[in-house]
Amino acid sequence: MPWNSCQRCHKLLAIVAILSALVIFALPQPALAQVPEAASRSGALPHSPLTDPAIEKRVDALLKQMTLEEKVGQLAQYSSGAPTGPSAGNADYPSMIERGEVGSLFNLDSARAANQYQHIAVEKSRLHIPLLFGLDVIHGFRTTFPVPLALASTWDPAIVEKAARIAAQESSAAGVRWVFSPMVDIARDPRWGRIVEGAGEDPFLGSVMARAYVRGYQGKSLSDKESVAACIKHFVGYGAAEGGRDYNTAEISEHTLREIYLPPFYAGIREGSASLMSSFNTLNGLPATANPFTLTQILRNEWGFPGLVVSDWTSVGELVPHGIARDKAVAAQKAVTAGIDMDMVSDSYHQHLADLVKSGKVSQTRLDEAVRDVLRVKFALGLFEDPFTDESHEIQGALPKERVEVARLAAERSFVLLKNSPAGSRPILPLTSEVRTIALIGPLADDARNMLGPWAGRGRPEDVVTLKTALEQKVGANKIRFAKGGELQTASDAEIQKAVETAQKADVILLALGEEADTQSGEAASRAYLNLPGRQEELLEKVAATGKPVVLLLFSGRPLTLPWAFEHVPAVVAAWFPGIQAGPALVRVLFGDEPPSGKLVVSWPRTIGQIPIYYNALNTGRPPENTDLTHPPQNSVEKYLSRYIDEQNSPQFPFGFGLSYSSLEYSQTHVDSAKLHASDKDIQATASASVRNEGNRAVDEIVQLYVRLTGTSMEEPVRKLAGFKRISLAPGESRTVSFPLGAEAFSLWDMQNKLRVEPSHVQLWISPDSSRGLPAELEIVE
Ligand code: NOJ
Repeated sequence: MPWNSCQRCHKLLAIVAILSALVIFALPQPALAQVPEAASRSGALPHSPLTDPAIEKRVDALLKQMTLEEKVGQLAQYSSGAPTGPSAGNADYPSMIERGEVGSLFNLDSARAANQYQHIAVEKSRLHIPLLFGLDVIHGFRTTFPVPLALASTWDPAIVEKAARIAAQESSAAGVRWVFSPMVDIARDPRWGRIVEGAGEDPFLGSVMARAYVRGYQGKSLSDKESVAACIKHFVGYGAAEGGRDYNTAEISEHTLREIYLPPFYAGIREGSASLMSSFNTLNGLPATANPFTLTQILRNEWGFPGLVVSDWTSVGELVPHGIARDKAVAAQKAVTAGIDMDMVSDSYHQHLADLVKSGKVSQTRLDEAVRDVLRVKFALGLFEDPFTDESHEIQGALPKERVEVARLAAERSFVLLKNSPAGSRPILPLTSEVRTIALIGPLADDARNMLGPWAGRGRPEDVVTLKTALEQKVGANKIRFAKGGELQTASDAEIQKAVETAQKADVILLALGEEADTQSGEAASRAYLNLPGRQEELLEKVAATGKPVVLLLFSGRPLTLPWAFEHVPAVVAAWFPGIQAGPALVRVLFGDEPPSGKLVVSWPRTIGQIPIYYNALNTGRPPENTDLTHPPQNSVEKYLSRYIDEQNSPQFPFGFGLSYSSLEYSQTHVDSAKLHASDKDIQATASASVRNEGNRAVDEIVQLYVRLTGTSMEEPVRKLAGFKRISLAPGESRTVSFPLGAEAFSLWDMQNKLRVEPSHVQLWISPDSSRGLPAELEIVE
């Protein structure tokens, strides 16, 4: 069904609603609650900045004046600047823009460059339609925040929103009014390099983060000059690339798609995201860039998305190597028909779309819909009124203090304390200022570039304060003994030996090891081995062999499989790639000026053989109680269970896990109702538990709520996250944490792929991570 004029979408929605109502009343229905509109993936979009009738009128009027070629021009996007994909495109942009053949450019590097192109578009092209400038602003523009996986590990949507707002201000000051972010792909496989760009493995947390980014980027109004259009990506299934190999095929049932992979996209769209990007992967046999089921049926017809859908870099042209298009003409036809409005870089629309329309292979209506989607965003951004950027607003000198402060806070909250065993009478962390000498060792201890992480926008190494600099500021350079111990990928015997000697002379050792941001994390950086690169593990083992207390700081875009380290090193911190304030943030947390409070948003595997590993898995018919290898199966009852013979089932660290410097006591979870009715439209219960800080240090704790439904029509995960709260507790303080739960928490996608509350047995855990606690129980009856 053709789709996209707003009037039409309203009519269609009305017809669908009437038909569904007729069907619902005509058929004998079990007494099951339809989940309310907000959760049922249908209905009007409350926050969309693109459903303004005044804008629609202007779009109509402009469309009437456009030639076929000018319409196609609005759908062509090219990269001008350092490429972020295999180089392709068409370089004669000035004359193309003048002829109205370009709708958008991206990868430009300044407001000045943007203005130069914009002058051509609005002064020389026949209809004066402004260009839309885009960029991959993934975790900041110039103020570089922790990578998105780390930002999600804060479990703090408010700080993520602030970071996105700063990114919007800096991007817009450089002429960029469209950011290709947030990436909301669920990722269950740390081999996939792009796990670093998302919020991890959980759809609930992923949805919260998706909304926070969209709010931050788009602000109160898209037409605010400091707002930028968000682009949720990659639609859909990209994170499920087989073998974790980038761009690879994904096979996901419709049930799992709806339950796990789609919710963060839906959340971002409901928050008003102005655009969406399709993904490279094939999904269930059909490339996602030519997939009408996801791009039209779900996105437009079910969700009513009024925004702009852009392909990924050359993904329209890639329909040829995928094997579903003989040439780029067929590729263009299939992509546009499936629902892609704008062709990023592949030039297929530019070359073939006009002919496809003339020959009737692509309908005029579909072409107009696509053009409307582009124009609507340009109008909503206010580009027609004010297409240029004031070049004096771009930051040239030092970053403003308030932005640096947000970067530091975000980094502090993103670190996950994985291990903190006693060294002597007390845990090794926090360090005390009385420590006499610290050996600072490792290739990342004084490395500014890698702290920025992959996809660092226009981040600059000179803005980074490294761990070495911050540590010297904290305790004085005279207390620090530094040895690099080699590079990330190589080291000489002499460098390792020097590091060991340096370690021997210190009271405590801080070891800064990890991945190289650009080549080992991010796009096109999938890894088949998840160990420390180069000779870093050898360095670690030799330094640890000195017997001095070691704190291992891991900088990476993913969990790394380091069983030796987790067994032998007393303290380990997952520091991710923390951004410009890497050093100060780490020093504050290491010395206890700020409590460690991040928690894992991905399950941390013991070995790559366990991958994919995720907490919200389905049970099997043969779940083992204990997969501890010291208790091998004794009989056939214990043998024929779902387990490995050579590794435990459990991850090294579960989803939601993270230690603090204190100890916390969770009470039993309590729920205020024992019985609920599936037919109750306002189904509601409240789960609560008290959390007490038993230690003598203040903590920031992320209290998590998990749900399991059994007795349902479809099998449900052994646990799924349904809420969380970040709380602060002084020593000895106790707080009751409550979670009101509505239909969404009790619902599941049924056999007809409808979201419903069914009669079921419900278990609820309020716990510090996804593996602990005893559940409260309740029944949902008909
Ligand atoms: C390819 C990536 O998949 C996408 O995330 C990015 O936005 C585009 N390149 C543009 O750089």
